[in-house]
Amino acid sequence: MTPFAIAVLPGDGIGPEVIAEAERVLEAVSERFKVMIALSRFSIGAAAVAAAGDPLPAETRAAVQSADAVLLGAVGDPSLDQAPRHLRPETGLLGLRALLGVYANLRPVAVHAVLADRSPLKPERLHGVDLLIVRELTGGLYYGEPRRRDETNAVNTLAYSAAEIERVARVAFEAARGRRGLVTSVDKANVLEVSQLWRDVVTRVGRDYADVRLEHLYVDFAAMKLVAEPAAFDVILTENMFGDILSDEAAVLAGSLGLLPSASLGAGTGLFEPIHGSAPGIAGQGIANPLGAIASAAMLLRHGLGLAEPAAAIDRAIHTVLAEGYRTRDIADPSDRPIGTREMGERVAERVGEKRILRAARLRRSG
Ligand code: IPM
Ligand code: MN
Repeated sequence: MTPFAIAVLPGDGIGPEVIAEAERVLEAVSERFKVMIALSRFSIGAAAVAAAGDPLPAETRAAVQSADAVLLGAVGDPSLDQAPRHLRPETGLLGLRALLGVYANLRPVAVHAVLADRSPLKPERLHGVDLLIVRELTGGLYYGEPRRRDETNAVNTLAYSAAEIERVARVAFEAARGRRGLVTSVDKANVLEVSQLWRDVVTRVGRDYADVRLEHLYVDFAAMKLVAEPAAFDVILTENMFGDILSDEAAVLAGSLGLLPSASLGAGTGLFEPIHGSAPGIAGQGIANPLGAIASAAMLLRHGLGLAEPAAAIDRAIHTVLAEGYRTRDIADPSDRPIGTREMGERVAERVGEKRILRAARLRRSG
């Protein structure tokens, strides 16, 4: 049997630290479930600019295209903030998403009950929060042409075609079918022509999904409702930039940006990455939360390789470790002794390796 080939792109800042823990957990999965997984590392972002003068080198491009799935840490480095666009780490990431054609970015946000007090929101507001942001990922402002700037003027272009809207809308409706059957499409149709097209196309596609309820919200109101009444959402469907912003906002519900995973899907190879950035301020200290990267590895198994059972084992292991009280600094109470990135990864890997997770958790508590 040929092993699944996973291209691992650690990237910048805390990327390599959190990815090392996701790899550790994938190795535990491989052992316990007897699936063959071959992990190979390639560079992206500032690390690739340093090594090859290109944020998405040819070797990386070739590797991701022939891989079964791609696992990515994070990109971004303040030393390149003033660099020309072709040398910016973010250009590597946008290029990777375009290369793989991963137009639908799935960002699930659920609240672990034991972390409800970590959010600044009142715990009663968080009760029942379980939402999925479906962010369009390869169009809109981040890719629009023309784009330029000089000393006094700058231009970016927001453009979407009906075909681009339709394909991501279908992903959202399909997802809602397996969930609570509600799609909230977010736009700015009171001002933008692009949003008017967005709304028309989503409405038309929605007619194919009679079992799914569709509502439309303006993005400003959606941003408010996301913290005022977050449990009211099921699937949020939106364009690239609105989805980028709303997903960081939604991370407040979970208690930390460090917890949240994502899957980016298209017709071919999928890309899996935590939603957080490279966090240069804490890089190299071994304190970053690896759970977003580890949960992304679970999404990789589920959506990228079709391995639902091992994916569920990772999700359960994360729950168990949190229930046991293990906390990295970002999710710790003042009274907790936080653990580091590596220890969190080791705890999850151990739990993944145990067949009887619940029993092991009970023994540990009583022993
Ligand atoms: C994200 C990030 C990226 C994005 C940046 C690093 C280009 O913020 O994945 O949300 O805007 O998509
Ligand atoms: Mn973002």
